[in-house]
Amino acid sequence: MRMYDIIQKKKKGNALTGDEIRFMTEGYVKGEIPDYQMSALLMAVCFQGMTKEETLALTLAMRDSGEVLDLSGIQGIKVDKHSTGGVGDKTSLVLAPMTAALGIPVAKMSGRGLGHTGGTIDKLECFPGFSTALTREQFCRNVNRMNMAIMGQTADLAPADKKLYALRDVTATVDQLSLIAASIMSKKLAAGADAVVLDVKTGNGAFMKEEKDAFALAEEMVEIGKSAGKKMSAVITDMDQPLGNAVGNSLEVKEAILALNGLGPKDLMEVVYALGAEMVLAAGKADTKEGAEELLKQTIQKKTALDKLAEFVEAQGGERRYVYQPELLPAAGIQMQVINTETGYVGGIQAEEIGLASLILGGGRVTKDSPIDLSVGILLHKKRGRAVQPGEALATVYANDMEKAKEAYGKIVRAYSILPEAPEELPMIKGILH
Ligand code: URA
Repeated sequence: MRMYDIIQKKKKGNALTGDEIRFMTEGYVKGEIPDYQMSALLMAVCFQGMTKEETLALTLAMRDSGEVLDLSGIQGIKVDKHSTGGVGDKTSLVLAPMTAALGIPVAKMSGRGLGHTGGTIDKLECFPGFSTALTREQFCRNVNRMNMAIMGQTADLAPADKKLYALRDVTATVDQLSLIAASIMSKKLAAGADAVVLDVKTGNGAFMKEEKDAFALAEEMVEIGKSAGKKMSAVITDMDQPLGNAVGNSLEVKEAILALNGLGPKDLMEVVYALGAEMVLAAGKADTKEGAEELLKQTIQKKTALDKLAEFVEAQGGERRYVYQPELLPAAGIQMQVINTETGYVGGIQAEEIGLASLILGGGRVTKDSPIDLSVGILLHKKRGRAVQPGEALATVYANDMEKAKEAYGKIVRAYSILPEAPEELPMIKGILH
């Protein structure tokens, strides 16, 4: 088999066989197929697409390029949740303790943030001493004991995806549906859960700006997961403005703690309950969506989810008192209000711009090794649809550097559009696929 022939075949619009896909994936990981040939193949895929069979074969080849976690030592139905990435997305921080409090084993591998989207691990490191460097044994033991553990993504999880993603990033081949689906699902399948609930974001702050593309991606991923024997569902949710009010690591942790105390913003809670219900149903803890939501609500009312978060933070080396006294979490020295100058309604907030403002403040990573400031970020006071008057604060910038605060201020002002009429209300949940 020759890579040259595979490129030629795809260029002409023909479907590749499973053997060809495995040959090129394995050869690329081993370094036997050079970047320039893989780049040509990826570009051919962008123009010609891939069939469902090809996408599945690519996903499985990428999954098998590294370790496939064996979670059989953990009792119960393991449910994983994955978001395609957004601004202010702290749903995992809220949902993991809620579902764990219901006895659902949460055995999660999480990543760090890169660019304008945040990662769960960075957020959890706001708790002093907290670590995700667990051995496999500690990880399984913690889940069996208290239903919850989060570990950093190991280097050996789908290494083909790591190498391919880096190449796609510099060859303008990221935004191809089959390549995205295979990339995400190879990692999910390697992470070993029995069921996967996907949060597929759509809107200006998401990968998939158009709703129809988000549905197509969700459908493709659900099919791949089912073909690989997993229970699957995908919830398509709004990312046309940041989720909740807080953007930035420490601010988001504080908002997650507020949510566990019953004080979460409405849009965040809508997404939390929609995803949570899918997780509870997949775990077999309820028969109906209403029943699942009721169980989830009780974890907030009875504070069992809050206590679970404290237990989890302590089990991974952090101080549990921070969960009950979030004012102790890292706080930025400068607070600058972003003042509105017009009369009208908030028509929209460009999520990506708010994410970039947080990046400017030092809250995100420019490269994968850059340090981040956990204390900085943005708190939005006015979300889409809110009436605003001149002189009112739209948001507050939390910074440790005045120049950066001013730069972020300008970005936030530009991210807001103020309209004379109230905009149409957009549903947070666009659809659910199984
Ligand atoms: N997230 C991934 O993990 N892979 C992609 O290709 C896009 C988003």
